[in-house]
Amino acid sequence: AVTVDVPGDLAGLRVVVSAGGTREPIDPVRFIGNRSSGRQGVAVALAAADRGAEVVLVAAHVDEGVLAEASTHPAVRVVGAGTAAELGAAVETETDAADVVVMAAAVADYRVAEVSTLKRSKEAAPQGGITLDLVENADILAGLVRQRREGQTIVGFAAETPGEGGTLLDRGRRKAARKGTDLLAVNEVGWTRGFESADNAVTVIDAAGEVVAARRGSKRDVADALWDAVLVVRQSQAN
Ligand code: CTP
Ligand code: CA
Repeated sequence: AVTVDVPGDLAGLRVVVSAGGTREPIDPVRFIGNRSSGRQGVAVALAAADRGAEVVLVAAHVDEGVLAEASTHPAVRVVGAGTAAELGAAVETETDAADVVVMAAAVADYRVAEVSTLKRSKEAAPQGGITLDLVENADILAGLVRQRREGQTIVGFAAETPGEGGTLLDRGRRKAARKGTDLLAVNEVGWTRGFESADNAVTVIDAAGEVVAARRGSKRDVADALWDAVLVVRQSQAN
C-alpha cells in the first residue's frame, strides 16, 4: 500500500489552546479548584494538531490520562500553569506568535487575597467558621481581545447552567458581546453534564451573536466542528 501525506486543512496555522481548571492556593496544602477535566480543551488541541496546525497547549490542572495523549503528539507543545495568573502569563507569551487562540480553560474568577505560607490551623482560627477574602482575577480572554493583532482569531468557551438570565443562548450572546470574541462555544453544564463525560453539546456563536455551528457528540466531534467554524470566520476576516 502507498501512503500519501495529505496536508491538513489547518496546516501552517499556529494555535494556542488553554485547557483544564486553574487552582488558586489557600495555603501550602489547599486550593480552590473546579471540576474541569481538561478533556474538551485537549480534544481541541489534538484536533488542531491532527489537522496540521502547530499547537501550544497551555495546561492548567488536566486529568493525567487526558494530558498524556497530548504530550506525546509531535505537533503539540505542552506548557504547564497552576493558577489563573500563571495561565494568563503563559497564554499571553504564547499568543505573540499565534494565529488562533482558544481559551477552553476553566479559569478561576477569584483568588485568595492572602495566601498563607504556613498551613492554616484550626487552633489559630475563630471557633465555628472562618471567612476567606477573595479578589477578582484578570479576565485573560478579554485581554487577548484587547491586544489582538491583525489576523488573529480569538475563541472563548462558556460553560453555562440553565436557569436565570434567559436561555443558554441569550446568556452566550451577552457573554460574546461583553468579551468581544470572534467565536464563543457555549455549552450546558451541570453535575451530570459536561464535565467528566466523554460527550458534549456545544453551540458556537460569532461576534454578531449568530449561531455558526451546533454539535452534540464526542468532545473530538465538538472540537472538529469548532475548527470548521474557525476556518469559516478566518475566511470572512480575510475578505
Ligand atoms: N476566562 C478568562 N479569564 C478569566 C475568566 C474566564 O480568560 N478570568 C475565559 C474562559 O477561559 C472562557 C471565557 O472566559 O473562555 C468564559 O468564561 P466564563 O467563566 O464563562 O465567563 P466569565 O466572564 O468569567 O463570566 P461568569 O463566570 O460570571 O459566567
Ligand atoms: Ca467565570
